[in-house]
Amino acid sequence: MCGIVGFTGEQNAAPVLLDGLKKLEYRGYDSAGIACMYNGEISVIKASGRIANLCERTDDGRSVQGQAGIGHTRWATHGAPTEENAHPHLSNDGRFAVVHNGIIENYLTLREELIRDGYHFDSETDTEVIVHLIEMYYRGDMREALAKTTNRLSGSYALGVICTEEPGRLYAVREASPLILGIGIGENFFASDVTALVSHTRNVIYLDDGEFAELTPDSVQIFDITGRTIDKKITRISWNVQAAEKGGFEHFMLKEIMEQPGAVKATIAPRVRDGRIVFDELTIDREILSGIRKIVITACGSAYYAGCAGRYALERLCRIPVETELASELRYSDPLIDAHTLLIVISQSGETADTIAAMKECKARGARTLAIVNVVGSSVAKLADDTVYTWAGPEIAVATTKGYTTQVTALYMLALYFADQLGLAGDAYAELLKALQQLPRRIQQAIDMNASIPALAKKYHKSKALFFIGRNTDYAVALEGALKMKEISYLHSEAYAAGELKHGTIALIEDHQPVIALCCNPHIMEKTLSNIVEVKARGAEVLALTFRNNHKILAEADDLLFIPDMDPLFSAVIEIVPLQLLAYYVAKENGCDIDKPKNLAKSVTVE
Ligand code: AGP
Repeated sequence: MCGIVGFTGEQNAAPVLLDGLKKLEYRGYDSAGIACMYNGEISVIKASGRIANLCERTDDGRSVQGQAGIGHTRWATHGAPTEENAHPHLSNDGRFAVVHNGIIENYLTLREELIRDGYHFDSETDTEVIVHLIEMYYRGDMREALAKTTNRLSGSYALGVICTEEPGRLYAVREASPLILGIGIGENFFASDVTALVSHTRNVIYLDDGEFAELTPDSVQIFDITGRTIDKKITRISWNVQAAEKGGFEHFMLKEIMEQPGAVKATIAPRVRDGRIVFDELTIDREILSGIRKIVITACGSAYYAGCAGRYALERLCRIPVETELASELRYSDPLIDAHTLLIVISQSGETADTIAAMKECKARGARTLAIVNVVGSSVAKLADDTVYTWAGPEIAVATTKGYTTQVTALYMLALYFADQLGLAGDAYAELLKALQQLPRRIQQAIDMNASIPALAKKYHKSKALFFIGRNTDYAVALEGALKMKEISYLHSEAYAAGELKHGTIALIEDHQPVIALCCNPHIMEKTLSNIVEVKARGAEVLALTFRNNHKILAEADDLLFIPDMDPLFSAVIEIVPLQLLAYYVAKENGCDIDKPKNLAKSVTVE
């Protein structure tokens, strides 16, 4: 929900911290701040709004002295996005500064206790209790103070801490919020995400829950709450700096849409050998699969919609019942889940709080868990019995695009792989695998054949509302298409199962109401066509998404989006691409901040 960074080295810390915060701005961007140590003092500079405001205030970091410091970019949870509530927070005696990503659930009790003990609070945040606890427990030993402090905290936290008594030294702590150490030469770092580190170092250490780190320019030590040293392996990041930057595109979202052929290929190619799908990473074998009575897919937002799209292939090919459940609902639903359930958990970031909670709930009930995740070493990946990485590379835009398409692709791959393991794929196997391998090319075709989208965006961007309709997989894609539109363009967009129109929604149709009709399922095309006719009869303007030679739909629609001819079982991955582009260009027409939509954050690490 927020992003934190830390730096200690030979150069001035502030410009390095600001650079890191810019990379983490997708995690939260309502206020930001840095704290640097110089001459035995900590100076804290904060600004509400974007990181650009903080850069302006500090002359891009040049006006702040000190070679060690910490920084934070915020997405408000406790307290308004004001300068007072922005991190870092300073202790009353000015000796300690803290940045925090996560939520302290018992902060009210701690706050009352600290106030009784004479501490005063400058903010409304949950975080501020941490810095006062550190001051209270510090007796010349930071490790001890941190252990005592974290012992009092319930909730999730990635912490960065500096102390004037220990110049040049940073402390970092992880509990249920991501935190990664960057190992440099004569300089060391921490950050919430590797994107903030890759321009400095590719050597990283992923902290696990309950781990503490002490960093100086020349050393990195990791220890547990008892102070016992922990040996951790250094991981080499293969992403390059360009992969995490815009590469000439106006927005990360457009870059990431265009990267989809490559991202989907990266999901498929390493898992195909000698004409067969091979998941070397999976421990689920034929015997385990045969014992699975149902599959439950759980996730949030687009990742959930990816599950809705992928379930059709799983059910069709494996003949196992598949349920899709929003993680935020599943976790509180007393779910009927046992050891015969395979729980498929989908998450781009691998850090979504509701997803993690639902996963823990189902694990406790005995479910076997398989995660589809993009971020290596993330919490979901660590919790799962098996993990299938999507290999989409870093996704920076808040609105997911390549994250979604690679998730659906991974589900398709699993569906065909499981069907093969269960002896159900039969003669269709080779054809279906070929169709999967063609997906990257089909995505590129879908991008190329829809050059009219910027013009369509000019026509539709002022609409009061947009309705998306479709049946089966088309409906699943409509859900994601509508979410894309609303989250970046702020147009009211809703998806309806086309067959449900006459049960209520059709009352909303009036003259010139745009209806985006997805018609890519040949076996129910006639049904969707009759829905198109019904809404047109009530004055709707229909923008249809279909195949180029689908003459019946072409004849009825006012405007068209196309997908290439392909196997409809796997078409969700292709259908979404024109809808992503439409959302992008509508948002651009409306002058929206496309990569950082209002009120949203990339990684939702709180409930
Ligand atoms: C999609 O564009 C959203 N930003 C959001 O719905 C996202 O998919 C959801 O928060 C889940 O995130 P995750 O995949 O990182 O778990």
